[in-house]
Parts: sequence; C-alpha cells; structure tokens
Amino acid sequence: MLNLDFLKPKAPPLVGVDISSSAVKMVELSLAGRNYSLDRYVILPLPKDAVSDGNLTNIDAVADTVKRAWQQLGTRVKHVAIALPAASVITKKILAPAQLSERDLEYQVETEANQYIPFPLDEVNLDFQILGPNPNTPEENDVLIAAAKKDKVEERVAAVEAAGLKAVVVDVESYAAQAAFELMRPQLPNNGEGQIVAVVDIGATGMHMNIFKDSQSIYSRDQAYAGNQLTQEIQRKYNMSFEEAELAKHQGGLPENYEPDVLQPFMDTLAMEVGRSLQFFYTSSNYTTVDHILLAGGCSVIHGLDEAVSSRTQVASTMRANPFFSMATGKVRGKQIQLDAPSLLIACGLAMRRFDPV
Ligand SMILES: Nc1ncnc2c1ncn2[C@@H]1O[C@H](COP(=O)(O)OP(=O)(O)OP(=O)(O)O)[C@@H](O)[C@H]1O
Ligand SMILES: [Mg+2]
Repeated sequence: MLNLDFLKPKAPPLVGVDISSSAVKMVELSLAGRNYSLDRYVILPLPKDAVSDGNLTNIDAVADTVKRAWQQLGTRVKHVAIALPAASVITKKILAPAQLSERDLEYQVETEANQYIPFPLDEVNLDFQILGPNPNTPEENDVLIAAAKKDKVEERVAAVEAAGLKAVVVDVESYAAQAAFELMRPQLPNNGEGQIVAVVDIGATGMHMNIFKDSQSIYSRDQAYAGNQLTQEIQRKYNMSFEEAELAKHQGGLPENYEPDVLQPFMDTLAMEVGRSLQFFYTSSNYTTVDHILLAGGCSVIHGLDEAVSSRTQVASTMRANPFFSMATGKVRGKQIQLDAPSLLIACGLAMRRFDPV
C-alpha cells in the first residue's frame, strides 16, 4: 500500500522524464517569481521497438538512453518524476465515512479495492486520495482509488534506477498532459476561459485528443494513426531503413515527389482523423464545435498541418501547442526549441510536480 505516489504531492527538486515510444524526453523547470523558467531539456531517440504499446520491451536499451539523456541534460538533479501510460492505471471514486482515521480508511480502501480492481491485489500498487465531502452525502468523503499494475511500475522504476536515477514521483501520462494544459492556456485569447479547447497530441505511435473546458478534461479519444505511418511510407517508397526514414523526415533531402505523393496524403489523413475524433466528441456531448485546437507532438511541426486541420475541422483557431509560451527560456539557446516544444507536454507536466504544494 502507498507505493504509488502520483496522488500525493512531493518536495523539490526533480526532473520530468517522459519515456515515450520514440524517445526519452527530460525537462527541468525552476520558478522565477511566479513564472516557470525552463532550465534545460533534452530529447534523445530510443532504438526502434525498445518501447512498444507503453511497455518497456527492452529495459537495457531504455536505461542506456535514459542515462545518456541525463548526461546530455547536464543537471545535478538525480530525482525524477516518471509516468505510466493511462492504460496501465485504473482509477475509481468511492465513498467512505468522513470520520474514518487515515489508517481505517487505508484498511477500507484495501478491502474494497477487490471489488473495483480487475486484477489480484498482490499484482497492483494501490493508492488513494481523499477528494473531499460528497456533495449529496456530506457525512461521507469522495475518495479516489488508483491502482497500477506492479510490473508496469517496476519496469519503469528499474529502467531509471539502472541509469543511476531515482524515481520519486510516479504519475500518469494523461494527468501530466492535463497539468501541461495550464502552461498553454496563455496562448489562447482570455486564457481560454470558458472555452472548449481540443489538445491533439500526434506522436509516433498514436494520436491522443483531449478536450478541455477550463481546467477540466471533458472528453478524450485515442487513435493509432501517427508519425510512424509516415515513416513506414517513406521506408516503403524510397527503400530506406526506419532510421534513415526518420532522419530524412527531420533533415529533408527526399526526392521531389515526396511532398505531393507522400507527405500531403499523410497530412490529409491526419486532418481527417482529427475531424473524425471531433465528430465523436460532438455526438457524445451537447457541443457542436470547439473554440480552439492545439496541435502537439512531433507531427505537429509538419509545415502546413495546422491549416490542413483547420480547413478540415472548420476550427479557425488551430495552432501549435507551446508549453514554454509564458516561460523564461533564456537559459536554453537555439531555434530547435520551437520545434521541440510541442512534443514536451508530458515531460513538462512531470517537471511541474516539483512545485506541488507539500
Ligand atoms: N520535423 C518533423 N517532420 C515530420 N515528422 C516529425 C518531425 N519531427 C518529429 N517528427 C515525428 O514525430 C514523431 C515523434 O513525436 P513525439 O516525440 O511526439 O512522439 P512520442 O511521444 O515518442 O510518441 P507516442 O506519443 O506515440 O509515444 C515521430 O514519428 C517523428 O518522426
Ligand atoms: Mg507522446
């Protein structure tokens, strides 16, 4: 019990470490007055298939990449916040009498968890947080129970430990992305207040849409279409290895027919998939439009994708997400930061855990 700590605040300092399917990403933030300041970040590609479907299929390769990324980051901080994919965590709200002591509550959570968690309890890390009095029955508290598969927690903790680091916070990717939304609100008119904002993270293996109203996530949907589809198409068409195709995506130099024959159709499909996800949101809610679309993830830097999405979805206000928008970034030099920012949402959300109230 209480091995998982993503529901509980932790003390500083720490580095946010996102182990995604294509790379290890690290962000270290500090506070300058009331504003965040970006101290350093790094993105280091992972070997193909080291992480698949959120599982660390090659822990040694991940540990090695984490170690080299940390060295490149150039920090002294060895405490890190990591995250589990949302799919390996189950959360459930229960009611518990308000007068229970923490210890009795712990006992009640453990005995009741059996009912709510579809795995044997010795295979999960269990944690809970008291949310506050239930609005309808104030003599009872709403309590959030979270359970994560132990092996999923352990493989990630082991990978960072093998790299010489210590995981002091284990969060959930979707919570970290939600925290990062706060960083992007200043990009929107009136801080996006009262507006419906779709954040669409298009990475290597998946597209995740998360729709917010103010700070609340009101809808989310995942799809499997993302950057790897473009990489595969480049491999196929130009007879390249995965690594060569990835490099060509970043550095250019592909034959002239690349843009019309490969890139443009890929962008059209992406835009169509974003449109489809929005349609699912509209049919499952009372909303008929969103006010803004923020495009995130490595694919969002593809030139013209914002226009393609905007014209397909009829959402005029479509822009690239920038979690560094209102941060001081002076310590980090170079133009690359503009291109990297949209893929650092989760790492930023994790880095923010440093400033949780204790
Ligand atoms: N300049 C670019 N042009 C085209 N594609 C790019 C560019 N830069 C990055 N990408 C693509 O973005 C993808 C990586 O994005 P990101 O870092 O957001 O993925 P990820 O978080 O590792 O993946 P996932 O979220 O699916 O686990 C890769 O497919 C990469 O080829
Ligand atoms: Mg990602």
